[in-house]
Amino acid sequence: MAERLLRLADVAKPGRLRDPTRTVFAMCGIVGYAGPKSAVDLVVEGLRRLEYRGYDSAGVSVVADGELSVAKRAGKLVNLEKELAETPLPVSGLAIGHTRWATHGGPTDVNAHPHRSSNGRVAVVHNGIIENFAVLRAELAEAGITPVSATDTEIAAQLLGLEVAKGGDLTGALRTVCNRLEGAFTLVAVDCEQPDTVVAARRNSPLVVGLGDGENFLASDVAAFIGHTREAVELGQDQIVTITATTFEVETFTGEPATVRPYHVSWDLSAAEKGGFDWFMRKEIYEQPKAVADTLLGRQDESGALRLDELRIAPEELRAVDKIVVIACGTSFYAGMVAKYAIEHWTRVPCEVELASEFRYRDPIVGPTTLVVTISQSGETADTLMAIRHAREQKARVLAICNTNGSTIPRESDAVIYTHAGPEIGVASTKGFLTQLVACYLLALYLAQVRGTKFGDEIALLIEELEKIPAAIERQLADMDGVLQLASDFAESPSVLFLGRHVGYPVALEGALKLKELAYIHAEGFAAGELKHGPIALIEDQLPVFVVMPPPGRDLVHEKVISNIAEIRARGARTIVLAEEDDLDAVRHADVVIALPKVPTLLQPLVAIVPLQVFACELATRKGHDVDQPRNLAKSVTVE
Ligand code: M6R
Repeated sequence: MAERLLRLADVAKPGRLRDPTRTVFAMCGIVGYAGPKSAVDLVVEGLRRLEYRGYDSAGVSVVADGELSVAKRAGKLVNLEKELAETPLPVSGLAIGHTRWATHGGPTDVNAHPHRSSNGRVAVVHNGIIENFAVLRAELAEAGITPVSATDTEIAAQLLGLEVAKGGDLTGALRTVCNRLEGAFTLVAVDCEQPDTVVAARRNSPLVVGLGDGENFLASDVAAFIGHTREAVELGQDQIVTITATTFEVETFTGEPATVRPYHVSWDLSAAEKGGFDWFMRKEIYEQPKAVADTLLGRQDESGALRLDELRIAPEELRAVDKIVVIACGTSFYAGMVAKYAIEHWTRVPCEVELASEFRYRDPIVGPTTLVVTISQSGETADTLMAIRHAREQKARVLAICNTNGSTIPRESDAVIYTHAGPEIGVASTKGFLTQLVACYLLALYLAQVRGTKFGDEIALLIEELEKIPAAIERQLADMDGVLQLASDFAESPSVLFLGRHVGYPVALEGALKLKELAYIHAEGFAAGELKHGPIALIEDQLPVFVVMPPPGRDLVHEKVISNIAEIRARGARTIVLAEEDDLDAVRHADVVIALPKVPTLLQPLVAIVPLQVFACELATRKGHDVDQPRNLAKSVTVE
């Protein structure tokens, strides 16, 4: 049996077959606290801010009077809060907690974290996948230990329990256990015999330390402790941190002291709260003017030339680049599609855009003169991270566009352009997308500047146009009544289509994604030019079709899309056309027009996506869905 398990575990390596029957847990939120306050309250407060990372079950564990106590419940955090109100845990200044997103297996009470070792010594919470858990489970069975749950996490807890029982401290014990684990994990552990210490380890999964005044925190994301401290430390790969109320020490998995990077979080608690909006998503849509403005801030020197401070790749190297490959997932991938249009048009460097999940599995051709650009809001997306590693193995230079300071993707890249969207808590990306677009435009213009494919005054004019975007979005958002009405009109539609051409095509894809993930209705985005090659068969009476109209005068594309609208209407569908405010052709041909501010063609996605975000948010609200925590989703996809 052990041998069979060994073979199964052997193939369960990234990129190879995995045992599909196994329960794995990932993308979860983790909090740890050591300090003078009520640790349960602080940990639950932190979990509330991390619930966007997973909401299948939640749990908390405290150490008090030399004993471990655990409370955990399937379902959203509110179930755990109810349980804690009915049966409070002992008062303690030391606790760990977890909110979970499961990929396989039922979200049951018993499978919820924290997991305890059978000897009652330790409790552990975990984010990630322990790839060799089957082998370790077989080993535990031989030692007479039968786990009570189906989780890989409990295996780590059991091993840790055995290790501390040998007499060492929790840090050393966790180091020994980590060296036996394969896969991706953040583990946070407490030991009832070390009542002032929380220990955590990270490999391929996020972990930050919050340094308070007489109290310290551990979390997957600074949002968990931002109400208490804005001083943070990012942990590197294969590092272990030990915190007490007043100390923190970091070492490597080999036991040497580690170098860490402290930083000050630039946003505060108000950014992590709803501020009067019904949903984080709606708030984040309305924050877009500021997010765009913040991302543009400080990007020019006194002479007006573009400057990208965190871009640590020398101009000579950028001039030698002969191919750009943009890699990302989901919404970030659509931002990458827009980047291709801008990069090729402004720099004349060939640019490919690729889904991160496909990239490394098809033996891509990249090398020392390839610039790989990755786009990730969270900075933790596993597919994107693996693609980066693959690209760097091929000696390509990697530049990350990222919104999360201290996350893994920028750390593992050669260079970074940070977007300044602030925390994005709604699972559906909104301001994350807009600021990614801005960063892509800035990168394309910077490359044009360095390579001399655009004159300085041309670049300055485009930056001026970008600087007008926040005010333009502000005006759009002040007049959304028509869009809200559309959400009410189409609330019962079983399907919605989106068409676009040129940079309107990725906007159509993103509009459809927003509707799928929030409203759970069939939504597809198509390149308008493809309509007659198949999708037109979907057109039927009363079907809502959104069309992103290219600005008039853009070659012949505008006229061609007008013809598409006529073809759709001739088949009884309803066309909702997003068109420039003085596009009279669009007004003549559409059933409904959503006016867009006049902006340069390449920048149109910045304004065209806004009504589609509002539409999806409103329609999902009308359907009674949880907009911020849509079913089956989690904010950061930290497993492949
Ligand atoms: O954090 P990342 O930008 O790497 O995330 C990529 C996708 O998982 C993300 O954009 C996802 O598609 C969103 N839910 C879209 O709203």
